[in-house]
Amino acid sequence: MADKLFIFDTTLRDGEQVPGCQLNSIEKIEVAKALEGLGVDVIEAGFPVSSPGDFKSVIEISKAVTWPTICALTRAVEKDIDLAAEALRYARRKRIHTGIGTSDYHIRYKFNSTREEILRRAVACVKYAKQYVEDVEFYAEDAGRTDNEYLARVVEAVIQAGATVVNIPDTTGYCLPEQYGAKIRFLKEHVNNVDQAVLSTHCHNDLGMATANTIQGVMNGARQVEVTVNGIGERAGNTSLEEVAMIFKSHREAGIETNINSQKIYSISRMVSGLMNMPVQPNKAIVGRNAFAHSSGIHQDGVLKNRESYEIIDPKDVGIDDNAILLTARSGRAALKHRLQVLGVELEQGVLDKVYEEFLKLADRKKDINDDDVLMLAGKDRTAMQRIKLEYLQVTSGVGLKPVASICLNIAGERFEAAASGNGPVDAAIKAIKSIIHRNMTIQEFLIQAIDKGSDDMGKVHMQVEYANNTYYGFAANTDIIAASAEAFLDAINKFVK
Ligand code: KIV
Ligand code: ZN
Repeated sequence: MADKLFIFDTTLRDGEQVPGCQLNSIEKIEVAKALEGLGVDVIEAGFPVSSPGDFKSVIEISKAVTWPTICALTRAVEKDIDLAAEALRYARRKRIHTGIGTSDYHIRYKFNSTREEILRRAVACVKYAKQYVEDVEFYAEDAGRTDNEYLARVVEAVIQAGATVVNIPDTTGYCLPEQYGAKIRFLKEHVNNVDQAVLSTHCHNDLGMATANTIQGVMNGARQVEVTVNGIGERAGNTSLEEVAMIFKSHREAGIETNINSQKIYSISRMVSGLMNMPVQPNKAIVGRNAFAHSSGIHQDGVLKNRESYEIIDPKDVGIDDNAILLTARSGRAALKHRLQVLGVELEQGVLDKVYEEFLKLADRKKDINDDDVLMLAGKDRTAMQRIKLEYLQVTSGVGLKPVASICLNIAGERFEAAASGNGPVDAAIKAIKSIIHRNMTIQEFLIQAIDKGSDDMGKVHMQVEYANNTYYGFAANTDIIAASAEAFLDAINKFVK
C-alpha cells in the first residue's frame, strides 16, 4: 500500500510575502476555498503577529474552510504564539507553526546566542504552543545549513516537548538534492523518537533545486511537503505544489500518494496567478502555457499518432481541457461562462454581462481569444469600483514628432482634462495624469509584457509606485500598451488617493 504524503500549502503565507502579491481577505478566502477543493491537508493561512490584516485573514479562513488543518506561523516568542492561538480560535483543525533559526549563521549573527540557548528556546516555544493546541509544528529555520548532529539534538528535544511535525527548511535554497536527502535520512536514523512526529520538507528555489530537494526529502522519509501554487514565494520561490503532486502521480513506483485532485491544478494555478498579478512563465512545468504545446513538426506528428510519444501527462489530468470550445466573436455568453469556470472564476450574471460586452469588443480586434485574455477581461471589472477612472486617452507620436497625450480622468464623477508631451508616448500619458493628480509620487518599476505572441495581442503592465514612503502596485491589461500603462498607473494611484 502507498504511503500518504501530507500536502502543506503555504501560498497564503510564504507565497504572499512576495512584494506586489498581497491579497485582501476576500481574495485569500477565495484561494483557501480553492485549496480545500484541490485537497490540500494543511493551509498555512498567515503570520498573525506580522499585521492586523494577517491576523484577520487567519480568522476568516478558519471560518470559511472545513477540512484542511489551518496553520498559523509564529516566531519562538510567547506574544506571537498567543496571537496565533487567538486567530485560530474558529478553526476546526488547528496547528501552530513555531520555530527558530538553528544554523550557526542564525545563532551567531541573528540571535548573538549559543547552540544551548537556542535549543532551550526551541523546547520552550513548543511547550508554550502546546498549552493552546495539540498539533504543534516546529521549524528549524536554515536547517539546510545546520550541522546535522546539532539538528538531530534539536529535533529530538522538540519532539520530546510535544511537536507533532518537525519542519526542516532549506531556507536559503542552498542544498544539493543528495545533501538534503541525506539530512532527512540522518534524522530518521539518529533521532530516537523520530517516529512520534512527521518530518516535513520546506525548500526554497534559489538554485532551482526546490522540487528536486523536496523529492529527495520524501524518498528519505519526510511525509509532509511545504509547497505553493505555481512555486511562488520569497526570492526565487518555494517548491511548487503542482510539480510534487504530478511527480508522485506519474511515478507510482515511488509508493507515495497525495490527496490532491489533480484535475483542479490548472484552475487554481490561473486563479493564484491572476489574483496575485504574478505571471506564470510560459515554460513552467505542468501549468505553463507551453507545458503541453508541441511546436516542432516531428513532435506534432508523433503526438497525433499517439499522444504518449511525447507526452508523459495527459493535459486533462491537470484540468487542461484541450478540446475546449474556441472562443471567437461568434461565441455566446455560455461559452464564455464555461471557459471562466474552467479557469476557476465564477461571475454573477450582471458582471458576466459586462465582461461579455468587453469580450465581444476584444474578439473584434483579435482573432484568438486565449485564457489570459479572458482572465484579464474578468479582472477588468474591478476597475469599475475605482474612484479615478480613465475616460479617454489620445496620443500622437511618430518619427520626427514630439509625443503628446491628451487625457480625461473622471474623479468621483467630475471630469478633468489635461495634455502633456514626453520622451515617448507612455511618458506623455504619465505626465498628463500627473498634471491632474498633484502628488509627489515616483514610478520605481515598470514592466510591460505581451500575453501571447501576435501584434494584436493584449499587453500587461505591472507598475510599482512610491508615495509618502509607501509602495503601491498597479496592474492593467489592454491591447493598447499605452492605455495599459496609464491604467496601471491609475490602478496604483487609486490605492492611495481615497
Ligand atoms: O523558509 C523558511 O525557513 C520559512 C520558515 C519560517 C518556515 O519559511
Ligand atoms: Zn520559507
